[in-house]
Amino acid sequence: MIQHKILKNSFPYLEISNQYAHAKISLQGAHVFAYKAPDKPALLWLSPKSTMQEGKAIRGGIPICFPWFGRHKADSTLPQHGFARISLWKVVDEEERTNGTTYIRLQLTQTAQTRKLWAYDFEVNLDVIVGETLTLSMHITNTDTKPFEVSTALHTYLNISDIENVEVVGLDDTEYYDALTNSTHRQQGNLSIHTEIDRVYQHKQASITLLDSDREISITSEGSGSLVVWNPWKEKSITMADMSDDGYKTMLCLETANAREDSRVIEAGKTHSIDVIYR
Ligand code: BG6
Repeated sequence: MIQHKILKNSFPYLEISNQYAHAKISLQGAHVFAYKAPDKPALLWLSPKSTMQEGKAIRGGIPICFPWFGRHKADSTLPQHGFARISLWKVVDEEERTNGTTYIRLQLTQTAQTRKLWAYDFEVNLDVIVGETLTLSMHITNTDTKPFEVSTALHTYLNISDIENVEVVGLDDTEYYDALTNSTHRQQGNLSIHTEIDRVYQHKQASITLLDSDREISITSEGSGSLVVWNPWKEKSITMADMSDDGYKTMLCLETANAREDSRVIEAGKTHSIDVIYR
């Protein structure tokens, strides 16, 4: 079942239920903010303090960072992580498939407003398949007459039992940029987290696994050569209005990205895609 719903403050979203899972997708940001299979804990973390209001990114779920990841290189007054996560997308296709999965396509194209922030014509389609796995495919098409460069991320907040319990497998010997110290290092072994972390791993493997005490989440991707790992830890959480002071304990962002040296130039008329499957 696909239901088009509106929160009290006129925030439009889709609610999807099928034999495999229950999911919610906000039209602002094409933002999947809930996905849960009946026999498993919720896949995605969502801050109970997220305001779900127009013009403010949801804290949790899968924000889409586009057309730039992080701060804009030249102008730090432009929205952090680009405008896609605070723009209203259109639902251009929806289908309940005979195999029991549900398919939704959301689309964002340039407007007079986006052209003030980024002077290009583009079309981004986000395909979401809600099934036994959660699949997202983001297709970025350059509909302009000149090439453009993008950095992007599916800024996924994973729901975990406790940050001290988890390990990320698949990053051994991978080089990373540490945004907290502005320096580059190489990962040794699995990654466990006991303090604030903000890193971009480059040339990562196509499959990363999050080991938790009660389950494993595997993230398989194509079209992405970088992974952002972020947890604000306690001190930063306290400064964030849309995060509870101990919210950091039950979330970890593992962001399938094209960030930093993995940014992509897309020629006029061409499409670049990132596909990711969470299982
Ligand atoms: C991460 C960045 O992807 O997102 C961090 O690497 C940033 O530097 C975090 O703090 C959250 O960003 P925002 O804009 O959603 O608060």
